[in-house]
This record gives sequence, C-alpha cells and structure tokens, in this order.
Amino acid sequence: MQYSMKYIFGFAAVLCFVCSIMISTANVGLRERQEINKVLDKQKSVLQAAWLVQPGEKVNRARVEELFKNVRPRIIELSTGKVLEEVNADTFDEESLPSLPAPTNKAGIREIKEQVKIYEIMEGDKVTMFVLPIVGKGLWSTMHGFLALDADTRTIRGLTYYDQAETPGLGGEVVNPKWKALWQGRLAYDENWSAKIAVIKGPAGPVEQNPYAVDGLSGATLTSRGVTNMLQFWLGENGFAPFLKSFRESGRA
Ligand SMILES: Cc1cc2nc3c(=O)[nH]c(=O)nc-3n(C[C@H](O)[C@H](O)[C@H](O)COP(=O)(O)O)c2cc1C
Repeated sequence: MQYSMKYIFGFAAVLCFVCSIMISTANVGLRERQEINKVLDKQKSVLQAAWLVQPGEKVNRARVEELFKNVRPRIIELSTGKVLEEVNADTFDEESLPSLPAPTNKAGIREIKEQVKIYEIMEGDKVTMFVLPIVGKGLWSTMHGFLALDADTRTIRGLTYYDQAETPGLGGEVVNPKWKALWQGRLAYDENWSAKIAVIKGPAGPVEQNPYAVDGLSGATLTSRGVTNMLQFWLGENGFAPFLKSFRESGRA
C-alpha cells in the first residue's frame, strides 16, 4: 500500500507532538522526585565523607534520614566565620545568593558565595566532626566534594567527591575507596594553623611518618594537584579558616 506524502508528514507531525507531550509530562511529573533524590544523594555524600556510610554500603532513604538525625546543617558567613543562627539551613538555597568574585587562587575558583552550608556531626550536643563543602578544578572538570574534619579542626576524617568528570582509572581514582581511606588521620594544618596537607607525587607512607601528605594518583598528577589546590583554598583564610578558628576560640573544640 502506498501512502501519500501528506499522510506521511501528517503522521510524523502527530507522532512528534504526542512524544513531546509525553516527555514534557514525565519531566514535570518527575521533577519533585529528582529534587528529593538530589538532596538524598548529597546527604549520602556527607555521610560517606565522615565514614558514617562505608564504601559500597547500600543505604536507603530511611537509613540516610536516620543517620542524618545526628547531623546538624549550619549556614556560616565565610568571611567572618560566624554561624548564622537565624538562617534556616533546611530551606537555605545557595543558588539564589549572589556570587562574589573569588580572590586569586590556584584552584580555578572564580566565584564564591558569602554564605555556605556546612554540616556538624553530633554526639548529643557535642560536635565531633565538621563536613565542609569543597570545589575546585581537576584536569577536565570542576570537582565537588566534602572534607570531613575532626572537632579538633586539624585532623582529617575523610574526603569524598560526589561530582567530577576526571578520567576513570586516572584522575577518576579520587573516588576509589582505597585512596579515600588514605586521608583518615592526616593533618590539614601545621602547628601554626597554616594549611599544609598536600597530595604528593608517589607514595606518602603511613600517617605517623607523613601526616601532611597523601599518595599521588598515578598517571594523574594534574588531578592530584587540583585536589591539593582546592584544599589549600578551602582551608585558608578565604575559605573555612575563620569559621574553624572561631570554633576553637569558643572553647567547644
Ligand atoms: C586520555 C587521557 C586522559 C587523561 N586523564 C587524566 C586525568 O584525569 N587526570 C590527570 O591528572 N591526568 C590525566 N591524563 C594525563 C595528563 O595528560 C598528564 O600526562 C598527567 O597528569 C601527568 O601525570 P603523571 O606525571 O603522573 O604521569 C590523561 C591523559 C590522557 C592521554
């Protein structure tokens, strides 16, 4: 049977229209679920940075919510390190804040927000750990992650990346649990509170021998350097240093 050109074009147009309606409906209908999953994913990363969720451990929404009962999100003012008690951390939307030009840095950070959400891991009413958001350039991508610091504000408890696009097997090894485990117990700051932690070329050895260094990722010196640069930035005066200092001075450390 032969169809006329009019029929073929008409059929194609109707098919396209129906498909576009279906896709738009699915997109709008699933948006809420996507938002929920995005929040859940971020919460999971916070827990992974603090090793409250182990690598490969499957955690459902209920478990994340249960673990998050001991996590207190806080909004801080970056430049002063002040906790903004009056800002509701649950409804805080960082994206809606104006961006400020970042001070000169090696981490490829062009803009920063003056207010940032951090997470305090609690035991009763005592802070045991901080989980701080970090971002900076790797070789190919902007890498987003979390650094977990002990309440002594010096000892690293974990580092995790939840969004990066470095090469799998090279820079992408930043998500390898074995490499992530190397961070535990290393020291972020020296005795003068200057940020000292760095990813070096080659092996760093055990914590006791080399507390300020972590093994470089083989074949990925540029990603490794990116990790060092972003840690130096976020641990510095333009990052979380004022907040951590004010926590130490509060006598709660
Ligand atoms: C296809 C391809 C992908 C690469 N991906 C990365 C990467 O993700 N991170 C990185 O630092 N270097 C990557 N490199 C290597 C860099 O170009 C550079 O050679 C390397 O960082 C130098 O590190 P090395 O001194 O440890 O060999 C890649 C190279 C190629 C050819």
